[in-house]
Amino acid sequence: MDQENKNNQVSQRKIFLTSSYLKYPLPAGLLKELAEELKEINRYPSGGGYDELRKELADYVGVEINNILPANGSDEVIEMVTRAYPGKVLIPVPTFSQYEISADRLSLPKLLVNCLQDKEYNIRFSPQQLKEASLVWVCNPNNPTGTGVSQKKIREILDQARGKVVIDECNYEYFGESVVNLIDQYKNLIIVRSFSKNFGLAGLRLGFAISNFENIKEISVYAQCFRVNRLAEKAGGKVLKYLDYYQEIWDKIKKVRDDFTQKINELGWFAYPSQANFVLVELRDKEEAKEVWRYLKHKWIYTLPGWKDEFSGLEHRFIRFTMGKEWEMKRVIEVLSDYRERCRRGDLNPHRHTPTTP
Ligand SMILES: Cc1ncc(COP(=O)(O)O)c(C=O)c1O
Repeated sequence: MDQENKNNQVSQRKIFLTSSYLKYPLPAGLLKELAEELKEINRYPSGGGYDELRKELADYVGVEINNILPANGSDEVIEMVTRAYPGKVLIPVPTFSQYEISADRLSLPKLLVNCLQDKEYNIRFSPQQLKEASLVWVCNPNNPTGTGVSQKKIREILDQARGKVVIDECNYEYFGESVVNLIDQYKNLIIVRSFSKNFGLAGLRLGFAISNFENIKEISVYAQCFRVNRLAEKAGGKVLKYLDYYQEIWDKIKKVRDDFTQKINELGWFAYPSQANFVLVELRDKEEAKEVWRYLKHKWIYTLPGWKDEFSGLEHRFIRFTMGKEWEMKRVIEVLSDYRERCRRGDLNPHRHTPTTP
């Protein structure tokens, strides 16, 4: 195929960069093993105990089986933890919206603390806030900014908090830093993990909580017996046999992410340095964000803007890009460069940048 045909093909393919799921195929061997498991789908999951799965998860993170509680995605962990520790909920925004949504479901009082200042996401709670809260959320790395929170900072929060502190590590595999080593030292620490972003099991739904046994027992009160379906139960242990395959993909995504960040900055916008599988871009203002988002959509590129409900406390001048494959992110940069060039030449109406022709 000649270059021109190739370019035409790329420009006509839809690129979805909205939800942050893994955009690579699962290992062929794993899919075969899961297909075999389907033959026994008439049976219930092991239920209640989920002992085998818990053992596999415990070995993966390096804790004891009693420190693990599997769930129907990490969203379910968020919901169960909120139910287990009702009271004032402290949320550093902008961040993932489910912490707030779970609190709202129970009509709990919330305190949303803005932590984004001068293009930096820095968690800053006052001692009083940490004293009053029953539950403190820290998303690490944070969604949508991609910021990694240091262990030192987390220790400071754990030391001062009266209630439970929940560290959402559902993007751990991209970041590589965890506070699992602190679960014995800090009785108020609960960690959330997921198989959605890293292992490509978003559709199967598998997440889990890690904490000391006392906390796990308290959270388990809100856990349904068969909350993890049979296929997800089997898949958890199976994907962990393919760590080398996944590691290659994570490395590839990190490289694409860092290249994308650099290119966005070269184009004169601000991309937040990310430790996750997405990048948050700050545009000049809400109007520019709307124009850029529309321009991308017009070119079949779908992204997540600040005005969608995915995030708590994110202003409208932001767009989050989930990292796609290398060719997809190259195409995004090509379209954005073209947008910049057309603005510079005055091809686009400054108040309505979407061109009449693609
Ligand atoms: C920070 C964070 N936590 C938790 C979740 C929920 O993931 P899941 O329920 O698929 O495990 C998401 C999904 O977008 C997320 O971004």
